[in-house]
Order: sequence, then C-alpha cells, then structure tokens
Amino acid sequence: MDKQVDTKKYYIKTFGCQMNVYDSNRIANILNTLGYEEAPTPKAADLIIFNTCHIREKAAEKVFSDLGRIYLIKQERALEGKDTIIGVAGCVVQAEDEQIAKRAPFVDFATGPLTYHRLPEILAKVYRKRGQSIIDTEFPAESKFDFLPENKSTGGCSFLAIQEGCNNFCTYCVVPYTRGIETSRPVEQVLNEAKRLVSTGSVEINLLGQNVNSYHGEDASGKERNLAYLLRKLAELDGLKRIRYTTSYPADMTDDLIACHHNLDKLMPYLHLPVQSGSDKILKAMNRRHTRDDYLRVIEKLYLANPNLRMSSDFIVGFPGETDEDFKQTLDIVNQVKYIQAFSFKYSKRAGTPAAIMPNQVEEKVKKERLDILQDLLFSYQEKFNLSSVGKTMPVLFEHKGRHSGQLIGRTPYMQNVHVEIAKEFLNKIVDIKITSATVNSLTGELAETNPKAS
Ligand code: 5AD
Ligand code: SF4
Repeated sequence: MDKQVDTKKYYIKTFGCQMNVYDSNRIANILNTLGYEEAPTPKAADLIIFNTCHIREKAAEKVFSDLGRIYLIKQERALEGKDTIIGVAGCVVQAEDEQIAKRAPFVDFATGPLTYHRLPEILAKVYRKRGQSIIDTEFPAESKFDFLPENKSTGGCSFLAIQEGCNNFCTYCVVPYTRGIETSRPVEQVLNEAKRLVSTGSVEINLLGQNVNSYHGEDASGKERNLAYLLRKLAELDGLKRIRYTTSYPADMTDDLIACHHNLDKLMPYLHLPVQSGSDKILKAMNRRHTRDDYLRVIEKLYLANPNLRMSSDFIVGFPGETDEDFKQTLDIVNQVKYIQAFSFKYSKRAGTPAAIMPNQVEEKVKKERLDILQDLLFSYQEKFNLSSVGKTMPVLFEHKGRHSGQLIGRTPYMQNVHVEIAKEFLNKIVDIKITSATVNSLTGELAETNPKAS
C-alpha cells in the first residue's frame, strides 16, 4: 500500500470589510488548487494567513496583538515537531510592511491586497528560503483577477468583486493608498464569474467594490460599460434570484443606476449609501464630492424609483473641526432618512492621510459621547423597522446554521437577520417566513403556512 501523505492544512483569519471576505475566499481557492485543505482551528494548520484591515487604528492594532497569539501556537507546534508558516495579507501589509518586519519578525511572508495571486510563487520561495521573511507589496502591473483560479460559491449568497481601489481620496481614508487607484474588471470576466457562482449554488450575488457605482469595465468590444449595464446583464441570469451592490458613493448615483431600482425586480430594496456626516462644512473637509442636499436629493429620486427601498449608511463622528452644531446636522440627517441599519465610527487618525494633520482634532472623550448619542438614535430607527416587520411574511435566504440545533439563520431582502427553527434542507434556499418577533438586532420567524416555497 502507498504510504499516506499528510495533506497540508490552512487557516485564514479575516479582518475588516466584505472585500477582505471575498479576497480570503479567493486565497482559499488558490490554496485548494495547491492541494491544501481547510483546518478547523489555527492549531491544526500548517499555514496560517491573516487577511488584515488598516481602515482604523483599532483594526490594525488587533492584527498585531492576534499575531502574537499565533506565534505562541507556532512555538507549541514546533515542540510537537510541526512546522508552521505564518503569512499576512491585506491592507496592513501595504501600509505597514516595515512595522510587520519589526513587530512580528516571525512572519514568513506578507503580501498586499493586489498581489496575493502570486501566492504559489511566494509559498515556493518561503519553503526554499526557510527562516527569511518574504514581503511582496508592489502595486503590480497585472490584474490579480487574470491569474486567480475559478471562484466557486461557498453558499447561497456570494460576494463578487467588480472593482479594486478608489480614486475619491476622502481625507480620512487609507483605501486609495492600500488598494490603489480604482480599476474595474471587464464585463465578461464579471459575468463569467457570476455564472460560475450561480452554477455552483449561489442564488444571491453581492457586487463589491469601494465605489461600485463608478464601475466602468470594458465589454467584449472594448466599450466601457457602467454599473447599470452590468446589473441588467446579471438580472438576465437564470437561477440568480437576488442582486445587491455595495459600497456606493452618493455623487456617482446616476439616473441610469437609480432606474434599475425601478426596473429590476432582482435588485434588493436595500441600499448602503454612506453619507459620513450631515454637515456641509465637514463633508467639504472630508473631500466628499457631495453636499447634504445633494445626498438627500439622490435619496428622494431613489424613493421615487422604488418606494419600498430602505437605506443604510456609514458615519464618522469627531472628524477634525467637527463642532456640536456639525454633529447636530448628522443627527438631523439620521432623523430625515431613518436608516434601517448603519455603521458608525469615531474618527481614527491614519498616518499619511490629509486629515491626520488637520488642526482642531477632536478630543477622544467628545468623540465617544457623540458616538454613543448617534448610535442610540440609529438603533432606535433600526429597532422600529425590525418591529414593523412582525406579522409580515418575507422571503428569507438561509445562509448558515444557528447556535441551537435545528435552527437556521437567514436574511430578508432588507438584510435583517432572521432566526428560524427549520429543517437544514432549507440552507441556501429562499423561503417564505412569517416574522413572529423582533429585537434591535434580529428577527425570529416560522415557515409561512401559505405555500412554503423553496427556490
Ligand atoms: N476613521 C474612522 N472611520 C473611517 N472610515 C474610513 N476611514 C476611517 C477613519 N480614518 C469608515 C468610513 C467608511 C467605512 C468603511 O469606514 O465610514 O465608509
Ligand atoms: Fe475611502 Fe472615500 Fe474611497 Fe470610500 S470613497 S474607499 S471612504 S476614499
């Protein structure tokens, strides 16, 4: 009998945004093609990769503290005679490659968000030059998307990156520096990936990018096409039931795109459209290309296109120069739009960005007070919306198992989490669910009596 060869195992820990979740899946695709298998825990892995986030200081610091813990695992495994390779990917690498070498010298390799398609060569180098750190952070001339193995669905709902980077240069943000300037993937490449995702089980696709509504990918004839065109093409795919796109930039919400919210039934009635602040003075200092009124006008048009549409947003409090009056303007815009979900953050100074050296930085204590007030208000609208769902029957896409056995967790068209006691056969399916109760964070429901349909 052949001697059994142990398959190498990998563990990927993802920090940060949905783009990183997508990148981690693509990294897993590469490792699978190299013959690696996923490990359930870091301790069981021969290769541990951290896919990191640099957007706020807290996120970046967490990477370094967690790396320290992983180093202990590497040492424990070494005592058992097992070799462990530690790799770091993502935006922290792009922004802090020297810090990684200094603060975590045990890291075997580091690769930025645009270079992970080179992982096979990087790993070969790591094995050849055991003990040396390999760092690859250049902005490559080639697009990683031309070199990655095929993407497969990991469930009923999949992310699909249509774009990389951002040209907006909001004065607080590191993204244009870590992910580079904006590039759009060609239309055919996106559609082919979507078809593969659908044929391997996805019924929902969420198009991803830092500013997806500036998408301008080339079609087969070399003509530039916009996001509205891409959405219409995607909507033609049989088997695809739900389409979302995120994140959008208010100034780039074209009429053509807004019309999609009227014409395309598959486009979900929920839009993440970050405003960041309700004060024109602060929006200007942030280098946002929209005023508060521009933003509200876009929302008005969206509601005309689809009165059932509901909004979510990102907010930053305590941006340099923000006064109590500016902050009141932010609360005021929340009261006008009544967001059903939102992400809100204290401004975090990022080295190298213009806002980091602006005068009138806001005290930490004030930032915290404002964040608490803002979040209380945001949660009150979120809770109100969730409570208004009770008694309604909604189509829910079940995405994963719940903590209790016999329970699945899914999402409504409005991205609300729904917990239901239901057979596991419904996983990755869209099912009509009657909502029976709600809290600020989630809904509970049961299979609707009338015509429970799985699709
Ligand atoms: N400080 C706080 N929040 C930030 N964001 C981006 N950069 C910063 C920063 N320096 C927030 C913005 C953005 C979201 C992804 O993260 O609200 O929309
Ligand atoms: Fe950052 Fe602004 Fe680009 Fe969003 S739009 S990624 S906040 S620079």
